[in-house]
Amino acid sequence: MEERRVVVIPGDGIGPEITRATLAVLGALDCGLEYEMAVAGLAAQEAGRGLMPAETVELIGQYGVALKGPLTTPIGRGFTSLNVDLRRRFDLYANLRPAQSYPGTSSCFKNVDILTVRENTEGLYAGVGDKLMEDGERAESIAVITRKGSNRVLRFAYELARRRKRHRVAVVHKANILKATSGLFLDCSREIRQDFAEIETRELIVDNACMQLVLDPDQFDIIVTTNLFGDIISDICAGLIGGLGMAPGANIGDEAAIFEAVHGSAPDIAGKGIANPSALILAAAMMLDHLHLADEATRVRSAVRGAIESHDRCTPDLGGSGSTQDFAQAIIDHLS
Ligand code: NAI
Ligand code: MG
Repeated sequence: MEERRVVVIPGDGIGPEITRATLAVLGALDCGLEYEMAVAGLAAQEAGRGLMPAETVELIGQYGVALKGPLTTPIGRGFTSLNVDLRRRFDLYANLRPAQSYPGTSSCFKNVDILTVRENTEGLYAGVGDKLMEDGERAESIAVITRKGSNRVLRFAYELARRRKRHRVAVVHKANILKATSGLFLDCSREIRQDFAEIETRELIVDNACMQLVLDPDQFDIIVTTNLFGDIISDICAGLIGGLGMAPGANIGDEAAIFEAVHGSAPDIAGKGIANPSALILAAAMMLDHLHLADEATRVRSAVRGAIESHDRCTPDLGGSGSTQDFAQAIIDHLS
């Protein structure tokens, strides 16, 4: 069996709990994965190794694939997001966030199947000129959009549409107000789509897109948008499928890919053993696909589906009373 090595970063808050559950599921697949455990975030800082140890960065660079738990970013000054740092460091320009309904959740919608592709390195997350004036009366931040950054993520979205035989792409923007930045992104999309004549494109202004999503999600297939809008829209999409506990994501670049949940470290439930591990388990399934282990990826997704559909040891967010590890065991028991 071919050995495939991946870096695993458990992360903060519920991170270690859901990582343990995810590794249990991956272990049950017996597909030859080897793990290189690494630390980042508060866990690394507490161990006296700084927030982003050089060894962790080196390991990701070396293996090119990582599975990562959430990292806490305290609100306010003095601490830039480690997630943003990792995405920029490895130029992980496309953040792919699938939202797919699983029968058995308490979601109002049954057939959601939306792929959000979020630009992951630019926009208001570029961290340019982010400052609060000394008198505390005025704050500024600069959004950066480039043709190169827009084109590559748009091309990623359209190529994904073509490869997966999905025929509709919604380009979400705010070019009516943010004429320069959102306008450039929209212009780029109008050029790129010329190469994808078979795919139907729809342009939507972000506020309307949010309303349309909660009114009638079935009208959406692939959404491509800039960084901040993609962050917000992917949490809305998570809400359409039963919550953040169900939403996985992949940060993809040309040299590396980091797989994680859409959700954060959930400090309100950390340490209680009740976090839903599905989002990270489904992110691990995306990682298996990336590693050309498509059959194993399908087995994981079917097992998650099976466990939820039969309400087998589900966590409280899914209406059950199972613990994180109980639910992971239920998923393992549903592996074919
Ligand atoms: P959050 O996503 O951590 O939590 C939002 C709500 O969803 C909470 O009520 C939480 O209990 C619930 N939730 C999240 N994941 C869950 C799961 N697996 N099972 C059951 N319920 C779940 O967002 P919040 O509270 O705004 O952020 C907390 C921290 O996480 C912040 O420091 C933030 O910066 C960080 N964060 C990190 C991310 C990453 O590492 N990629 C992504 C988003 C936030
Ligand atoms: Mg977010």
